[in-house]
Amino acid sequence: MPSTPGKGLEGVVAAETAISDIDGKEGRLSYVGYDIHDLAPNATFEEVIYLLHHLELPDETQLGEIREQLAREREPNDFVMRLMPHLADNCAPMSMLRTAVSASSARDPDGWDVSEEANYRKAIRLCAVFPTMVAYYDRLRNDQDLIAPDPSLSQAANFLWMLKGDKADEDEVHIFDVCLTLHADHTMNASTFAARVCAATLSDIHSAMTAAIAALKGPLHGGANEQVMKMIKEIKDLGGVSKARAYITKRLENKEKVMGFGHRVYKTEDPRATHLRKMAKELADKTGDGSNYEISQEIEKTVMDVKGIYPNVDFYAASVYGYLAIPTDLFTPVFACSRVAGWTAHVREQYADNRLIRPDHEYVGPEPRKWLSITDR
Ligand code: SDX
Repeated sequence: MPSTPGKGLEGVVAAETAISDIDGKEGRLSYVGYDIHDLAPNATFEEVIYLLHHLELPDETQLGEIREQLAREREPNDFVMRLMPHLADNCAPMSMLRTAVSASSARDPDGWDVSEEANYRKAIRLCAVFPTMVAYYDRLRNDQDLIAPDPSLSQAANFLWMLKGDKADEDEVHIFDVCLTLHADHTMNASTFAARVCAATLSDIHSAMTAAIAALKGPLHGGANEQVMKMIKEIKDLGGVSKARAYITKRLENKEKVMGFGHRVYKTEDPRATHLRKMAKELADKTGDGSNYEISQEIEKTVMDVKGIYPNVDFYAASVYGYLAIPTDLFTPVFACSRVAGWTAHVREQYADNRLIRPDHEYVGPEPRKWLSITDR
């Protein structure tokens, strides 16, 4: 009888991967051997996309090539563009993204070619187009003109440009680029696992991305960052930072989860939170509005005092995105704009050495019993 894993597959090794590694006890994260504490301040998101897919950092020529490929592939195809106004009128942001990405397979230039070369082209195409789908959606739902992608801009700068229509300053672009690096991959998290399970049936990469977006949408996973900002706003409405401790203590006493805290693997500080906390402080100082940061700090202290758990990637990401004037309900789509790099890399890794993912189960239902006709029940 196979050993019974922890609920939620806790402690189960679901796949081998060379893409990223976590040490939950030490609070360490690395992408292909490069520590996140080195990548965050030094790597651009484009270098990280290349690293996750090629398992090596790019040289200048290779970086130039992937930058050009991303810039070329940013526009959604004509079928998706016809859908976008309807999605903007009728769908929540993550539902839009799940639908638009699925629909984009209909006109993909590589069609149903599932060769390694075609899947790599599709992967980079998906990394390129997610931010445009999110920005176009927001412009359409606000009855604003679309702002076309600017091929001269990086992924980070281009998203802020398409969303807000003004060229964000260098500090903001750098901070957003670091956020994209920090969210790019995280071993066997729920959405990456969903993508790999789908790919392991030899379904196509667009289907695997649709599965991943669907999983990330949940508040226990990528949806947490939006919930964090809602919590900060509720505390502001109650009177601000002086109300934070009582608010959090009450939630914990009611056995409610505080979004942005806890992690299945990290039993110490999530190393990404270290960078996000610092950037939230930088933006608080830069904008002169310390409220989000101060409330976050008080929440963090209270949760640690009462429950002894640490903030995860979503907690301070909420303040950073708030300071960057990204609408709260776009926080999770922004997470997806980064994680698509990891998801597509994992799908290609799964294809390269595949076996159907089909775990076992433990039956806890009734003992075998006889059929009862309707009159005997
Ligand atoms: C992400 O997996 C990844 O790598 C994900 C991610 C990535 O990069 O892909 O890191 C991104 O999804 C981060 C997590 C975002 N979600 C949230 O912030 C939602 C709130 N967090 C919790 O729901 C929870 O911490 C999870 C879902 C993240 C982890 O859940 P587990 O491992 O199943 O832990 P659990 O729910 O069994 O909790 C264990 C204990 C419990 O206490 P007791 O009942 O034993 O006393 O810790 C407590 C929980 O009550 N706990 C919390 C808590 N998280 C755990 N208590 C209050 N608030 C919390 N947030």
